[in-house]
Amino acid sequence: MKTVNRFVPGLEGVIASETGISFLDTEQEKIIIRGHELIELSHERNYLEVLHLLLEGALPNAEEKEALETKLKGMYNLPDEIYHILKRLPKETHPMDALRTGISCLAGYDQNLEDTSVKANKERAYLMMAKLPALVANSYHILNGKEPIEPRADLSYSANFLYMITGEVPTDTEVKIFDKSLLLYSEHEMPNSTFTARVIASTLSDLYGALTGAVASLKGPLHGGANEAVMYSLREVDSAAGYEQYIMKKLKNKEKVMGFGHRVYMKKMDPRALVMKDALKQLCELKGDDKLLEMCEAGERVMEREIGIYPNLDYYAAPVYWLLNIPIPLYTPIFFGSRAAGLSAHVIEQHANNRLFRPRVQYVGESY
Ligand code: SDX
Repeated sequence: MKTVNRFVPGLEGVIASETGISFLDTEQEKIIIRGHELIELSHERNYLEVLHLLLEGALPNAEEKEALETKLKGMYNLPDEIYHILKRLPKETHPMDALRTGISCLAGYDQNLEDTSVKANKERAYLMMAKLPALVANSYHILNGKEPIEPRADLSYSANFLYMITGEVPTDTEVKIFDKSLLLYSEHEMPNSTFTARVIASTLSDLYGALTGAVASLKGPLHGGANEAVMYSLREVDSAAGYEQYIMKKLKNKEKVMGFGHRVYMKKMDPRALVMKDALKQLCELKGDDKLLEMCEAGERVMEREIGIYPNLDYYAAPVYWLLNIPIPLYTPIFFGSRAAGLSAHVIEQHANNRLFRPRVQYVGESY
């Protein structure tokens, strides 16, 4: 066995997989998704088209696009037993934990779990994508003592997702912005949750298990949990000046400021954040209230000035979700609802060309 003897904390810069799914080209400042550029896609396509790109390897034509939406709509509902299980969870359960439970339970309905072929995995992925809006939204409603909201097949996928969260039929602008956020969250190369999913899949464990593990990974505030943390930070103060002071205090105490920094971009702005910043501007304009934008821009300025670190997608997704009337505990579940597309593509790719992940350690224990 060949061994690589260099320990790299956090596996920074380590190549963990070959993939045809995505790549962060930091030199050209491009996020590549199966040969397409994510930011361009966000201006020209919608989330379901990118889902098709991720799972089928190509953007859909008009017929394929419609067929995909119809297929998902036919599988929107959750089994009743899942609702019974969700109703038995302690009310304090975080929606990410409820989501993790729900995804895990769905494995029990799959009679063909040991089949890890591309075909079987793709069908599972579509089933998952169809059921995630109900799982995300209704686990939250149930935990809050409310009745689940029935999915509406007369709305588009993203409109229905947002409707199920808020209980209100969203406007076209709201749907467009929400859909854009889903598209931007859909896939991002090898973040911790994707690595987690691939590690689990590499034992030939199933898609449900890989996604369940990925939910746990994404929940952490250093990863997907940051979008909720950003909004709680913004809620702690009430003005741009207050937010600047809040950040200065964090930096003085050597604490992390949520929504800033990125293992791959670190000293540059996450290109996805700029698209969400534009969405925030649009929503602020519509509401006739610029306060959140001013606060975020003040935060951006102080972080650049003090430590030269820039916003990531979560920084601007958080205030956008706030203005879309989305409850804060659903921000990370929504991120997962979207990212399940990319994660599924990675599990499919891992299963199709598998080698078990099994690294080594640098031993620093008792001498022997
Ligand atoms: C996501 O990987 C992906 O692609 C993830 C993601 C996706 O789409 O899947 O993009 C989604 O997870 C975005 C990141 C969300 N997390 C946060 O916003 C939490 C705050 N950010 C940081 O904790 C941090 O920037 C990380 C976790 C994102 C990256 O961590 P690294 O690469 O391990 O970097 P580090 O913590 O070692 O920081 C390096 C330096 C340190 O300073 P020095 O000790 O060298 O002087 O940068 C400083 C850090 O203190 N730093 C920050 C900071 N981020 C980095 N200082 C204050 N606030 C921050 N947010």
